[in-house]
Amino acid sequence: DLSGISTFGPSTMIVVSNRLPVDATENEDGSISWGLAPGGLVTALEPFMRENASTWVGWAGISDLVLAPFERDGVKLVSVTLSENDVELFYEGFSNDTLWPLYHDVIEAPSYHRAWWEVYRSVNQKFADVVAAEAAEGATVWVHDYQLQLVPQMLRELRPDLTIGFFLHIPFPAYGLFSQLPWRRQIIEGLLGADLVGFQRAQDVDNFLRIVRRIMAYKVIGGHVTVPSRGEENRYVVARNFPISISYPDIQKLIKDPAVIARSREIRESIGNPKIMILGADRLDYTKGFLHRLKAYDELLSDGDLDPTEVVMVMVASPSRERVDSYIKLRDDVELAVGRINGQYGELGHYPVVYLHHNYPREEMMALFLAADVMLVTPLRDGMNLVAKEFVAARSDGDGVLVLSEFAGAFDELKAAVAVNPHDIDDLKKQILRAKDMAPAERRQRMLSMRRRVREHDVEKWSRDFLKALAHTNRVS
Ligand code: F6P
Repeated sequence: DLSGISTFGPSTMIVVSNRLPVDATENEDGSISWGLAPGGLVTALEPFMRENASTWVGWAGISDLVLAPFERDGVKLVSVTLSENDVELFYEGFSNDTLWPLYHDVIEAPSYHRAWWEVYRSVNQKFADVVAAEAAEGATVWVHDYQLQLVPQMLRELRPDLTIGFFLHIPFPAYGLFSQLPWRRQIIEGLLGADLVGFQRAQDVDNFLRIVRRIMAYKVIGGHVTVPSRGEENRYVVARNFPISISYPDIQKLIKDPAVIARSREIRESIGNPKIMILGADRLDYTKGFLHRLKAYDELLSDGDLDPTEVVMVMVASPSRERVDSYIKLRDDVELAVGRINGQYGELGHYPVVYLHHNYPREEMMALFLAADVMLVTPLRDGMNLVAKEFVAARSDGDGVLVLSEFAGAFDELKAAVAVNPHDIDDLKKQILRAKDMAPAERRQRMLSMRRRVREHDVEKWSRDFLKALAHTNRVS
């Protein structure tokens, strides 16, 4: 439901992220359909925006789309137009083929191209210009994620009156990796344009501060960085971790819906009422550990530790970054592995892997969470992983076992999950079996403890904590 807008004046609170919460796709006849933008960032920010009448600046998902500001659920959406060249060099290139693999521990090799960097800069400038024109005097601007790391400094130059916060949704790499980046200084300077730089995990903050010390030689005490300013007073920038979360109340509402509950039963029936349903739900991304998971599952079936007639692994893989080479290759590899397992262990009417390369609405995801016995969240590296928290929030029955990678940010909080090192295939196999065989009392005890954590640290608290720290930072500096 999108409508034009005329009544909004300059904004006192602006959120800026690469994507708007709505995502446009072009149909064959040239018309446009709107859906919900992919990824955890939008899931997390949506509830905050609903509660805090504000403006959201971002890209609508297709190139060369020029849109006047419009309104959705009381939020003013301001679209930044990206050309085809911007999408290729800024989004697919520098953001998702340089920064994404570099920040995820070079699971895939990052590509460094000067032409991509130039467009990353110019697109960041585009975002900064749009925000500068929208912001009221003294407004607060909250910039999000790795696609926009230069925006804080660019914005400070245009509008020194603003209070600027930055939050990184993905991991921040160790010095030894980050220092590969030919533009490492510029990125750090860009981030230090903010008053507060937020990260998911304490280890991300440590990495960042170490890099600030080593690359910039700035003074760092505790989480405070002193940024020398020519001819002016020094600035102080605070770096801290704020683990992002999900909206607990929103999920409680969804899982009480009789249609969702009925659908969860239907899902189990549709896969042949197996004894054990294992679930995975990720964007189809090489950081998520699909191939490791499939290898472990394949070996468990071939060792005879799992009976292919008793178990089904439902693997939701939502389409993502489909024009980037490493994602094209991953899809081929995953589909090959799934085909092999089903060819080997499947029978007419029963397949041990149900692979779904689709995006599903939230209601369907909740029904899947409710239907599962074992949830596998086994990324090789992940900033937070909100699917893990959503699963926990959805299981008001106190049942279901979460197998969680130590390399996901969520691991710092969800200590009662079954921990796994997904790089270790034997460990994956062991923990899957442990989860499958766990006694009901232990399942319940673990789930209740994780639910308490997620309930008390939901996304509302996350945004409140960040904005409180941001307001405070500005006062003391
Ligand atoms: O949280 C990580 C993130 O990259 C977001 O910034 C992004 O919007 C989401 O995942 C989905 O990726 P993309 O926007 O490239 O489809």
